[in-house]
Amino acid sequence: MKKPVIAIDGYSSTGKSSISKIIADKLGLIHMDTGALYRGATWYALQHCLNNDGEIDLNTLFSSFDQIHLEFKNNNGTLVLYLNSTDISKEIRTNAVSENVSLVAKQKEVRDFLLQSQRSLAEKGGVIMDGRDIGTVVLPNADYKFFLTASIDERTNRRFLELKGLGIEADKEQVKQNLIERDKVDSEREIAPLKKADDATVIDNSNLTKEETIELILSYIEKI
Ligand code: DC
Repeated sequence: MKKPVIAIDGYSSTGKSSISKIIADKLGLIHMDTGALYRGATWYALQHCLNNDGEIDLNTLFSSFDQIHLEFKNNNGTLVLYLNSTDISKEIRTNAVSENVSLVAKQKEVRDFLLQSQRSLAEKGGVIMDGRDIGTVVLPNADYKFFLTASIDERTNRRFLELKGLGIEADKEQVKQNLIERDKVDSEREIAPLKKADDATVIDNSNLTKEETIELILSYIEKI
């Protein structure tokens, strides 16, 4: 029997990736954190495509796509993002990346560049993919679609703790402003904005634990 294709979209720091990873393990699916790809492209741009003012030069980035090889590798059950054979899983969580990723992600050239690898992963089924436009653009025919949301204070706390766990120093107010700003740019961009698909199930997990959110999602998914 063909395994399902599941799309998980939603606001920043609603737990999309960690929840998707656990569901993938439970159901034997492949998990792709598509935000990591946009972060990987942003990390590359910060290393190689800065102008004299220290800002990302988008045209330089667009002409560098043939030098950006992003790939997930399985490291003891955790999918780790590699850029040109270097593990960049920690680098993509830094503030510099978080502050620039929405600018990079709103570019049509970048979205087109990253679209094919996302779609081809889902061709054989058995995939859970999380991001902002999975149910609307990347996998409009997904078998199940969920849209996660939570209050800004709850999301700030979660992101703050995630950064702390990674050993990254952060200021709570700065974390909150970055989430607000990213949600705004992601929702208002012209191409593939952050938006609930018409046929997605909304889950507000402000008052749910990660485990409760997972149980709720699983309750919608038919037994495989
Ligand atoms: O999921 P995340 O916070 O790591 O994603 C980082 C950024 O990447 C997010 O602010 C918007 C962008 N993104 C996107 O535009 N489309 C996706 N499918 C996933 C992420």
